[in-house]
Amino acid sequence: FEHRPGRGKPAIDVDAIVGSRRLRRNRRTDWARRLVRENTLTVDDLIWPIFVVAGENARTPVASMPGVERLTVDQAVRDAERAAKLGIPAIAIFPYTDPALRDPVGSEALNDDNLVCRAVRAIKAEVPNLGIITDVALDPFTSHGHDGLMDGDAILNDETVEQLVRAALVQAEAGADVIGPSDMMDGRVGAIRAGLDAAGFGHVQIMSYAVKYASAFYGPFRDAVGTNKTLIGDKRTYQMDPANTEEALREAEQDIAEGADMIMVKPGMPYLDIVHRLKATFGMPTYAYQVSGEYAMIMGAAERGWIDGERAMVESLLAFKRAGADGVLTYFAPAVAERLKAGA
Ligand code: PBG
Repeated sequence: FEHRPGRGKPAIDVDAIVGSRRLRRNRRTDWARRLVRENTLTVDDLIWPIFVVAGENARTPVASMPGVERLTVDQAVRDAERAAKLGIPAIAIFPYTDPALRDPVGSEALNDDNLVCRAVRAIKAEVPNLGIITDVALDPFTSHGHDGLMDGDAILNDETVEQLVRAALVQAEAGADVIGPSDMMDGRVGAIRAGLDAAGFGHVQIMSYAVKYASAFYGPFRDAVGTNKTLIGDKRTYQMDPANTEEALREAEQDIAEGADMIMVKPGMPYLDIVHRLKATFGMPTYAYQVSGEYAMIMGAAERGWIDGERAMVESLLAFKRAGADGVLTYFAPAVAERLKAGA
């Protein structure tokens, strides 16, 4: 900001254009920038998604997600402890299911000793005050990689909902605090709410993946849970068309009416307009999922030295706050929490 008298008059009279309104005045010093800052990112905004796998004492890197690993349950407990120490409010658990345990109807989702349930129980026993969100969808358990039961090419809605209710009950029984239906079947939020209430889990919250788009940005996640190779076709008959906004409002409205406690938009960065509109329209606790492909883009470019990864991480997360999100599911959660703790 250089607006000082007596330096010789430039050819263009900028004063005549802006008058006394010089927006750069507030940006001149660090303290002033901090004073006028409208949004801040805190550790309370973070939800950390983790991947669990069978076995013991092993951490396997996910190639397409630098810095992310599949964890055996004992290691997941260690990361949960780390999350709690950093002050991260909640984690979200996703399983890599042994392919031998996958079948067309996702039976393993109903096994009360499946990987997710084992991880929930182990983490609850060691880190009781950390929130645990479990994903309710059949894709980690189905041999075809779809989120629902199939009849030929068709994904069956109502039959899938019944299966999802059973899966949610199994997770609640294991100790999940929040059920996160990520399947996009119609009516699943209401059905899960009724199922939970009837089984004495009235306190268990539902974070609905209310607006989930059929996106190219889930690729690395499908590597992590091992569904990329098996997925037949695509998910466009149940996940939303990236071209639509009004439909997102209807999806969210319906999930709220069915009893969702919190709503989520997914992916995140390409859909900040949706986050903003949902928050402005419904005023609900609203979250965004900065998905695997978004994480991979930032990490991949940073690894090549094309962008400053740390700054891009913080900037991307701040963008969610600016759009109105109450929090973000992000694979950056531990890294950004470390930074915030260090006061950076
Ligand atoms: C599936 C599910 C997906 C993600 C979370 N739950 C992928 C999909 O719909 O195929 C993606 C998360 C990410 O990409 O980080 N129910």
